[in-house]
Amino acid sequence: MGGRTFGVGIIGTGRISGAHARAARESGGTRLVMASEVDQARADAFESKWSCPVVADYREVFENPDVDIVSLTLPHWLHEPIGIAAAEAGKHIFVEKPMADSVEECDRMIAAARSHGVKLFTGHTEQFLAPNVAARNLIASGEVGTPVLATDCWYKAFGVAARPAWFLDRSKGGGMWLMNGAHMVDRLTYLMGQPVVSVKAIVQTRFHAISADDTALAFLQFADGSAATLAHTGYKDHAGAGVDHIGGEIIITCTEAQLKIVDRARLYRSVAGDKGGMWQEVEVDRVDTTTAELRALVHNIVHDEPETVSVEQARHIVAVMAACEESSRTGREILVHA
Ligand SMILES: NC(=O)c1ccc[n+]([C@@H]2O[C@H](COP(=O)([O-])OP(=O)(O)OC[C@H]3O[C@@H](n4cnc5c(N)ncnc54)[C@H](O)[C@@H]3O)[C@@H](O)[C@H]2O)c1
Repeated sequence: MGGRTFGVGIIGTGRISGAHARAARESGGTRLVMASEVDQARADAFESKWSCPVVADYREVFENPDVDIVSLTLPHWLHEPIGIAAAEAGKHIFVEKPMADSVEECDRMIAAARSHGVKLFTGHTEQFLAPNVAARNLIASGEVGTPVLATDCWYKAFGVAARPAWFLDRSKGGGMWLMNGAHMVDRLTYLMGQPVVSVKAIVQTRFHAISADDTALAFLQFADGSAATLAHTGYKDHAGAGVDHIGGEIIITCTEAQLKIVDRARLYRSVAGDKGGMWQEVEVDRVDTTTAELRALVHNIVHDEPETVSVEQARHIVAVMAACEESSRTGREILVHA
């Protein structure tokens, strides 16, 4: 890190902000300088928990010369305008996933970051989760052959009562698709090691009276001809409804073996057993993903290298999600060019 400590400012002290505060404290190359929050109760709670000043107007964070990196832990619809303002203020950007709500918004953010010479790092957690990294390394080693098919299922309760208003409104970037679909598209493209070239999908609202989706099923075709399906619900919350599959289950069928990732925590590979194949657990470390992401961003800044999560990848994930929504609206297969 060259001995330099980078100051971090956090914009938005909601649900995920604690992970960013901890990362700023623990990465080794950063320190938490200040935060911004428009909700007074959340501002007070963050200030007392992290002993860090919290201001109402995010522009004060951008004006602080001690802040080098801003974590944007904001509702999705604010990623673009506040991201562009951060770039104009010369701050490096650690934006939570997805980069933005649309490809056009991503393009404007990327242009702003490039023209102001700052990094734009999207927090695609799945690329830092230990079982995903280990699975990708196994695939790269050639030991399990080449990925042919993947299935990814993630069923969880929506938790409507506890969700902020923006999350129930697609025009503000709400819904399960942008929140968790972003993780699923990210991990499938990461594990298959290929960009998506076409999709057929439904993205619907089936379980709640809200203006945002709670159900998705998609078929993704990759550039090398391999394919994946993903199924996701933010299920109804009433007692006894009975779905809670935290993190989901991914099975990647490769030419020489299968890999299975469960609950974003455990990795298995298939081995020969008495009655055919059986699962054998692969030991993986535990990783604090947000700290790993922030360390990667600091490395990118210090070495003036492209972002570890490239802007092209982050934009591609948004393009795939938008194509799935278009497929759902039109009933057609949609080609993905980005
Ligand atoms: N990587 C992960 O696993 C993960 C998990 C959860 C959320 N996220 C991402 O984190 C981001 C935030 O999600 P969340 O669930 O924490 O949302 P949230 O609604 O809990 O928090 C957002 C906060 O931003 C504040 N805010 C709104 N406008 C503001 C402004 N102008 N200035 C300052 N603060 C403002 C809100 O008051 C709120 O407290 C999203 O991009 C989401 O997808 C990532």
